[in-house]
Amino acid sequence: MTNVQNATNPPAPDVAGRYALYQNVPVAVQAIDLVKDYGTGESTVHALRGVNVSFAKGAFTAIMGPSGSGKSTLMHTLAGLDSSTSGKIMFEGRDITKLKDNDLTLLRRTSIGFIFQSFNLLPMFTAEQNILMPLTLAGAKPDRAWFARLVSTLGLSDRLNHRPNELSGGQQQRVAIARALISKPSVVFADEPTGNLDSVSSAEVLDFLRRSVKDLGQTIIMVTHDAIAASYADRAIVFADGRIVADQPHPQADQMGELLTQVRTNALAAASAAPAAPLAESAR
Ligand SMILES: Nc1ncnc2c1ncn2[C@@H]1O[C@H](COP(=O)(O)OP(=O)(O)O)[C@@H](O)[C@H]1O
Ligand SMILES: [Mg+2]
Repeated sequence: MTNVQNATNPPAPDVAGRYALYQNVPVAVQAIDLVKDYGTGESTVHALRGVNVSFAKGAFTAIMGPSGSGKSTLMHTLAGLDSSTSGKIMFEGRDITKLKDNDLTLLRRTSIGFIFQSFNLLPMFTAEQNILMPLTLAGAKPDRAWFARLVSTLGLSDRLNHRPNELSGGQQQRVAIARALISKPSVVFADEPTGNLDSVSSAEVLDFLRRSVKDLGQTIIMVTHDAIAASYADRAIVFADGRIVADQPHPQADQMGELLTQVRTNALAAASAAPAAPLAESAR
């Protein structure tokens, strides 16, 4: 089984590079020494502490780790939804941390799909209108054949005229997935896409994500706290305290469960070894 590096001990700079599996394959997106701090002074939160990672094109990567370890921050910065404090994010050969707002908006529209845990559908619009929204906003014509393929693969053909409140959670998430894929983005980010779904809907959603990687060559980066969800991925990365502490090819559910337990144990040990932090006013 893979050893988890101690959370207080930063891994070697290029964790991904240590795996032959990820060498000699085209990279979709890469973080180089990526740092993200929230706030300043004593109250600074170090959400990303110098992350180095490459995500291969056409691969499905899961990101796991305890709550607050920086998973969402990584996704938001990689997707250009949030700024970084320092470091680079290489996307299609460009460092997106250097892009002007307009160029970043354009890149997000054309090359990035994002699926949120809470679906984020527009309640006043039908499923079809929601799916087509990114193109509507961009003033672009939909590829009807691609739309039809997405809708039928996702089992939404007879739900297109329904509004979100007339759809089940699983159906809403499938609409959100179709919306993320409609513009044929080069990378799809999914932040706990099955977090609000029952196990049957989860399996449907994960199955679709898996197939879109296998059959369509889609690149997917997915945050999940669920070891079973991670087992659908080609690779699982584990975060702790703003750093990558494990990088597992072909993750299995039981193995990821063990890894996560080990990470939590290490985090607890590190916390108890550190000098006791003063309690915040609200915690007293
Ligand atoms: N907008 C924000 N302002 C201040 N702190 C934040 C903000 N977003 C996240 N954080 C902090 O950054 C750390 C990482 O958060 P996050 O990336 O959301 O973790 P995860 O997704 O792994 O649960 C946490 O300590 C969190 O409280
Ligand atoms: Mg999160």
